[in-house]
Amino acid sequence: MPTVVFNDISYIVPEGSRISDLPPYKESAALPCGGHGKCGKCKVTAKGMLSPLSATEREGLTSDEIESGVRLACCTTVCGDCVICTLDARTSARIRIAGDMPEISLHPAFSAYGVCVDIGTTTLAARLYNGEGTLLAEAGGLNPQSAYGADVISRIEAALKGEAHELAMSIRRAIDALLTELTRAAGIAPNAIDGMVITGNTVMLHLLTETSVEPLSHAPFAAERLFGEVLTAGELALTALSPDAEIYLPPCAAAFVGADITTALLASGICGQQGTALLVDIGTNGEMALWHDGRLTFCSTAAGPAFEGADISMGMGGKEGAIDSVCLVNGSLYAHVIGNIAPAGICGSGVVDTVACLLDTEQLDETGYLEDDPAMIAEPVSITQEDIRAVQLAKSAIHAGIRTLLHRAGIAPEAVGTLAIAGGFGSYLNTDNACKIGLLPAEMRPAIRVIGNAALAGAAMVLLSRDLREQCARCATGEVAELSTDPVFADEYMERMLF
Ligand code: FES
Repeated sequence: MPTVVFNDISYIVPEGSRISDLPPYKESAALPCGGHGKCGKCKVTAKGMLSPLSATEREGLTSDEIESGVRLACCTTVCGDCVICTLDARTSARIRIAGDMPEISLHPAFSAYGVCVDIGTTTLAARLYNGEGTLLAEAGGLNPQSAYGADVISRIEAALKGEAHELAMSIRRAIDALLTELTRAAGIAPNAIDGMVITGNTVMLHLLTETSVEPLSHAPFAAERLFGEVLTAGELALTALSPDAEIYLPPCAAAFVGADITTALLASGICGQQGTALLVDIGTNGEMALWHDGRLTFCSTAAGPAFEGADISMGMGGKEGAIDSVCLVNGSLYAHVIGNIAPAGICGSGVVDTVACLLDTEQLDETGYLEDDPAMIAEPVSITQEDIRAVQLAKSAIHAGIRTLLHRAGIAPEAVGTLAIAGGFGSYLNTDNACKIGLLPAEMRPAIRVIGNAALAGAAMVLLSRDLREQCARCATGEVAELSTDPVFADEYMERMLF
């Protein structure tokens, strides 16, 4: 299928698509005459393999326009690779949403430069700030501990088998590398950083600090340490910083509800607000918090890494070359690729869209049976039957977790005023498709608010204002719902496996 670079973004499109039918055109411009070639309002500049100039176009365009490659989008079809630009092209380069951050009063937990880091089970993200609260650089990468297992359970097992020190050192080296990358981008020396905040789920913080994970490995799943404490770079063996640089680890709520949820709650601002709100962080470990009647209830559900691009045969993170959104054009899959390059794989948001499209075309049935295995998305990227099974497990874990929390509180999905979706994956999530495939309850669609990497945003807030540590601690206080023994969760989990 041809590659179309539309306003600087690459798309794989079916040959024969009319330019005006391409989703990026539809999103940015209208067809005042209904696409009949009469109004001349759908002009674009287009170069490459396109249908020849039609008589209608010759009538509607000046010779100068024709010479400079102007075409009518409603009269031109894509025959091969081409470059298209709307005349009022708005720069639409993709910017990763790093998480909404409310305004705060500055009282930094550092004097010169400070860094906040979110250790996700699969990915890492970090930001560098100066003392005026200016964001100087952002960096991200994969959590190298993935080599020891994709999820927290396998990491715990690896630590118990004697790999705890190596697990700790691998994440510390990765943080050191992020610090080097950030400071290089900002043109400062790494040891100019004298304050850090590191958030992450409870297991990640245990592994970072080489704290025993043994109590996390069996019922009643207690945590040796719930953090909310200050360490030094020397204690964490972070060599890029001076050894006495201060590192704050925000508090966790429980064994499987970590500091990432606490800082995400802080950034979301839902604690203390009127009404009922739910925060869901869709990661390898799906953590959620319900704010209802002035109290927090937490739970966590093992979703697996499918939505982070792992566990999927051609999965990858949301970076250049990843298909991050897919829709249907004339009944065929139409993929958007991050960056102007050929597709190399698919990230979580693309997976959700692909499944929704395959359901629409009935190539996938409600049991998750894939008619043609694998189903091609855009050469050479496809999705397999096994991938679909991983998606089913992940989406039913999240969906069932949400319904179980609501059931325990005795509230209907419609009663939730805000459903805040956190996590890097959530940033690009097509929420209609998330509801269509049953990742999120469809009744909650109007309440959905995507807040990006809120865990990192909350860590940045605590970094930039020491005063928020107390508020952060309140976000770690609440009841923890144990799902593994809850019969409602078991029933919901089975039911939500279907599409
Ligand atoms: S939409 Fe009117 S000419 Fe194309």
